[in-house]
Amino acid sequence: MTVLPEHMTASVLKGVREMAVEQRPLPVPERDEVLVRVSSVGVCGSDVHFWAEGSLGDWVVDAPLVLGHESSGTIVAVGADVSPSRIGSRVSIEPQHPDPTSSESMAGHYNLDPGMRFFATPGVDGAFAEFVTIQSHFAWDVPDTISDDAAALMEPLSVAVATIRKAGITVGSRVLITGAGPIGVVIAQTARAYGAREIIVSDVSAARRQQAMTFGASETIDPMVTDIASLGLDVDAFIDASGAAAAVQSGIHAVRPGGRVVLVGMGAPTVSIPVPLIQNRELIVTGVFRYANTWPTAIELVASGRVDLDALVTGHFGIDQVEAALASTTEPGVLKSIVNPGR
Ligand SMILES: NC(=O)c1ccc[n+]([C@@H]2O[C@H](COP(=O)([O-])OP(=O)(O)OC[C@H]3O[C@@H](n4cnc5c(N)ncnc54)[C@H](O)[C@@H]3O)[C@@H](O)[C@H]2O)c1
Repeated sequence: MTVLPEHMTASVLKGVREMAVEQRPLPVPERDEVLVRVSSVGVCGSDVHFWAEGSLGDWVVDAPLVLGHESSGTIVAVGADVSPSRIGSRVSIEPQHPDPTSSESMAGHYNLDPGMRFFATPGVDGAFAEFVTIQSHFAWDVPDTISDDAAALMEPLSVAVATIRKAGITVGSRVLITGAGPIGVVIAQTARAYGAREIIVSDVSAARRQQAMTFGASETIDPMVTDIASLGLDVDAFIDASGAAAAVQSGIHAVRPGGRVVLVGMGAPTVSIPVPLIQNRELIVTGVFRYANTWPTAIELVASGRVDLDALVTGHFGIDQVEAALASTTEPGVLKSIVNPGR
């Protein structure tokens, strides 16, 4: 039996651009939870916003916060209601805790529960730590063929799966994706896995456009040179993964009548959109807010080799290097930085 320590190391956001490595008591799993020794944690743009600006949208960091919500690890202890047979399982963590009795959860979209407790949002610590607890059903077993890093990156892949479902991508679909960051390229890979025939990706960055070609894009567009709205692309679906107002506005013009627009990127708080065009083409315009019921699909996409998450990883950092990991995200060529708390 593994003897667990009484304390663990955690990286804590104490103020804007102020991280501290601290010793904290080991978390104790509730009855329905498991204790996970964290292996890999992906750095997400939201972590960078909280660190660099102290806020993201309506969320304001007003107390010390452990960041990190893309995580994997191994179960080392279980709560009273969880089978001890789970100890030793390698898992990918779905980092949310909805109220199962909320009307949103009852309707199947638990991601929309207004009382959601989500890792690494103010008031809820995340995974830049040696150990975390999570409800046992949100610790998803992964096969040994899936790496720790890939298991952590099931989280952004889940955003992609939720997006592809909303976009109605199927065999033969033609899709436009604006923004080729980690989210955009995972969406591109997932669109390909769902059978999309043509995947057009735009990004203002040449390096990101080049990366997109290795992740399933059929062609790329530089929106600073080419006006997407005027190309007559007539795609089945347009997905914005940039959060840029200009990308949203031009992309809507590229959608065929009856097509879909899925807004994933979070950026400009308000964007003016061409209402007559949306009406005349009967476009379905929707947002995506994280995911629900996506992990089994995400794990299968990776296990079957149809999505390669390891290829996204451009750097590894220790628990005492979280600040460097956060800062690395703006360096050229960096796509996904990973923190390994046990390193
Ligand atoms: N809705 C959700 O649940 C959800 C979940 C995760 C991330 N997000 C959001 O998705 C977006 C993408 O995440 P990411 O981690 O890939 O971010 P990122 O910042 O790494 O990537 C965004 C990309 O968009 C590009 N871009 C900027 N302006 C553009 C334009 N006019 N046209 C085309 N591309 C442009 C940038 O060069 C960059 O490569 C972010 O806004 C993030 O907040 C949303």
